[in-house]
Amino acid sequence: MTFSRIGGTGRYLPERVLTNADREKIVDTTDEWIRTRTGIEERHVATDDEQTSDLCVNAAKIAMADAGVDPQDIDLIVIGTTSPDLLFPNVATIVQHKMGIPACAAFSLETACSGFIYAISTADKFIRAGDTKCALVIGAEIITRLIDWEDRNTCVLFGDGAGAVILQPSEEQGIMSTHLGADGQYKDLLYYPVGVSNNLAAAGVGDSRIMMAGNEVFKVAVKTLASIAQTALDANNMTLDDVDWLIPHQANLRIIQAAAKRIGMPMEKVIQTVQMHGNTSAASVPLALDVGIRDGRIKRGQTLLLEAFGGGFTWGSVLLRY
Ligand code: COA
Repeated sequence: MTFSRIGGTGRYLPERVLTNADREKIVDTTDEWIRTRTGIEERHVATDDEQTSDLCVNAAKIAMADAGVDPQDIDLIVIGTTSPDLLFPNVATIVQHKMGIPACAAFSLETACSGFIYAISTADKFIRAGDTKCALVIGAEIITRLIDWEDRNTCVLFGDGAGAVILQPSEEQGIMSTHLGADGQYKDLLYYPVGVSNNLAAAGVGDSRIMMAGNEVFKVAVKTLASIAQTALDANNMTLDDVDWLIPHQANLRIIQAAAKRIGMPMEKVIQTVQMHGNTSAASVPLALDVGIRDGRIKRGQTLLLEAFGGGFTWGSVLLRY
């Protein structure tokens, strides 16, 4: 049986860092409020001349070096993002061109903060079907371009970044299961009010802001992240004792803690990066994965449970042997 397996990882965070103290200068907030309500201390923010594809390229180069693969080896690019360079061509083709990757399937998908989980789940299916030998999978955002810097409800939460993974076929166990889900009835709790077929002429993107009912999102996020972790374990006849690391979407430390508590996962086994990265949407899970690998906590052969939740709502999990 062929599995898909992670051959290498990489991450890139824009150099510019905005601390909570920087936020205090812009809106009526405090470092203490942000830390106690979200756990966030700072976040990286792209400069005006950086595009999402640039973040992708920087993360991808590191992941490819880690896996020992060249641009010629890549035959699938899947990118989860809500903040592509352009509406079309899709950002995966821009990354392909910038990296000199030969013609291959290249597409992006927009499932908000679940984007990377959807992307890696899709690539897993391509590999197991025998269609792909080397997939470049990325979660990337310059989500701060959608932020109203004067809206204190959202401007303290988000940050930019990209995380990349090389996924390859293997006879050794890699990805064991993927579970994806969505429920569009929650659209009004978290959305961006401008799209191509809706409001584009009336309100330009720069004039709009992320709309979020924070409290409601919080509650559904905790319940969903807890239940999808359990679903992944049940599907594999496993318990939490079998999992070395939980790598959840990094939206808010209190959401991560509450979801972990619900399923009985000790926080020592949860990778946490929200403090330094903020909510980087589709980039958050691959960023946290790479942080855990590079700092030596995550080791080859260990079992990882990745999970995410985002606007839509969308959600998903990936259980894998690293
Ligand atoms: N600084 C200071 N005060 C702030 C603030 C800020 N940055 N943002 C909001 N407030 C105020 C609110 O206006 C409110 O004031 P009021 O009571 O006078 O109306 C007060 O703080 C309490 O707001 P509340 O919404 O009850 O706080 P909370 O404990 O729920 O925390 C969030 C707010 C947004 C941090 C929290 O709800 C959250 O993280 N939700 C999930 C968001 C998320 O993860 N979205 C992405 C999902 S992928």
